[in-house]
Amino acid sequence: MSAPSVITIDGPAGAGKSTLGELLARRLGYLFFDTGVMYRALAWAVLHGAIDPEDGEAVTVLARDLDIQVLPPGDATDGRLYTVLVNGVDVTWELRHPDVERIVSITARHPAVRTVMRERQRAIGSRGRVVMVGRDIGSIVMPDAPLKIYLDASIDERARRRTDEILRRGGDADLQRIRNDMIRRDSLDRYVSAPAADACTIISDGLSPEQVVALVIARIADRCDDSQEARA
Ligand code: DC
Repeated sequence: MSAPSVITIDGPAGAGKSTLGELLARRLGYLFFDTGVMYRALAWAVLHGAIDPEDGEAVTVLARDLDIQVLPPGDATDGRLYTVLVNGVDVTWELRHPDVERIVSITARHPAVRTVMRERQRAIGSRGRVVMVGRDIGSIVMPDAPLKIYLDASIDERARRRTDEILRRGGDADLQRIRNDMIRRDSLDRYVSAPAADACTIISDGLSPEQVVALVIARIADRCDDSQEARA
């Protein structure tokens, strides 16, 4: 079975995109690239620079100059999937802070900011052998990707998963607050979150991460069968 060189996974917050992306990338020996991290890194820099997240021009200037590096987790034993450096500073966990979550969608809304980010994402994606996770990857960043997944789940399941994840890390989490926050972010992110027309949708309610990976692997095998049949 030969896997598609680029696999995109889009969907709302808490649908399980990162877990799926990381497991799949590991299975295939591909790079795992979570594009949401880039917008979070920018939001973190906006906070630290005391910039108004609504100020599109200032945020775009910052985005153009910002050095964002996403590296393998190395020897870290804190459960991270990657290490994120912003201008050389390790901000991996700070990117999950509620202050970042509060402004990230606003920061990501400016068209010129999205142009800067999408160009960088495309440069990494076009090297191939990559699983890319985000909102607009299949529809806009990598529209020619051979396999596009749209991963969704009900709001209750997504809020419960996010709460469990924070509690597992030893943090404080209130299910109702997280649920309300997700609904707010869903509505702010909706304008960039439409699935690509040729995406395969998976609803992950009640499925374990391994079961979702198995569905995608089956989908890859089907595609390979289809293309062999087409060649015959
Ligand atoms: O997937 P996430 O929750 O880490 O994403 C953080 C924010 O970044 C989210 O509110 C939407 C935005 N985002 C985006 O606009 N486009 C992407 N490709 C990825 C994330």
